[in-house]
Amino acid sequence: MKLIFLGPPGAGKGTIASELSKKMGIPHISTGDLFRKSIKNQTVLGQKVQKIIESGDLVPDALTVAMVKERLNNPDVENGYILDGFPRTIMQADSLSQFSEIDSVINFVIQDEQVIERLAGRRICKNCGEGYHIETLKPQKEGICDKCGEELVKRPDDAPEAIKNRLDVYYESTEPLIEYYKDKNKLKDIDGSGSVDAVMAETEAVISTI
Ligand code: AP5
Ligand code: MG
Repeated sequence: MKLIFLGPPGAGKGTIASELSKKMGIPHISTGDLFRKSIKNQTVLGQKVQKIIESGDLVPDALTVAMVKERLNNPDVENGYILDGFPRTIMQADSLSQFSEIDSVINFVIQDEQVIERLAGRRICKNCGEGYHIETLKPQKEGICDKCGEELVKRPDDAPEAIKNRLDVYYESTEPLIEYYKDKNKLKDIDGSGSVDAVMAETEAVISTI
């Protein structure tokens, strides 16, 4: 199954996609994670996008689309994928439709106040990128990643100014995709405001109807 996870920053896209990818046996492809990996490795792409990402602006469409197109050439997407954080503009959505046909778009609905709380408490592993929250998704040992034992840090774009900018960018560039996919009968809304278990259960229930 080919799925897109759509929603504002901090809606829980990455958290749910990571779990569901294991259950469904299809890859979780997060453009944010791919960019952060290239920044960590200081590749040419990483150097180009670092400042843009830290400010919360969008990486230019051409760079983003090329990266996703290349990723979708990997044979592991044969049985489907979860695209998390892509597309984020109408141009990206039009481009995607030229090289892959998706089954459905899961739209995580959540208010800004809750997004801000979630992002303020988020921590990620500086080595493997695994996500946690200081209250709702604690690691077994404080400040240490359960998966790889490395240190947990804040994402630079989880600073208050960058969060504000990411929300503005979301409403300006990404929210129009809700109508875009509704018009194509692909959109499924999920209430993103509940516990991780509740959101996961609703997502699975919706996916079972596709
Ligand atoms: P990206 O990494 O995609 O960031 P984002 O869209 O801002 O989304 P987040 O990762 O912040 O939120 P999420 O929905 O994954 O929430 P999470 O599950 O972590 O993109 C980063 C940047 O890369 C962009 O700003 C842009 O610069 C660039 N970029 C990426 N894609 C691009 C594109 N297509 N085009 C151009 N540029 C692009 O959850 C958040 C926190 O809440 C965590 O701490 C989690 O533990 C907790 N939590 C999650 N669910 C729950 C729950 N149900 N209850 C309680 N706590 C929860
Ligand atoms: Mg994410």
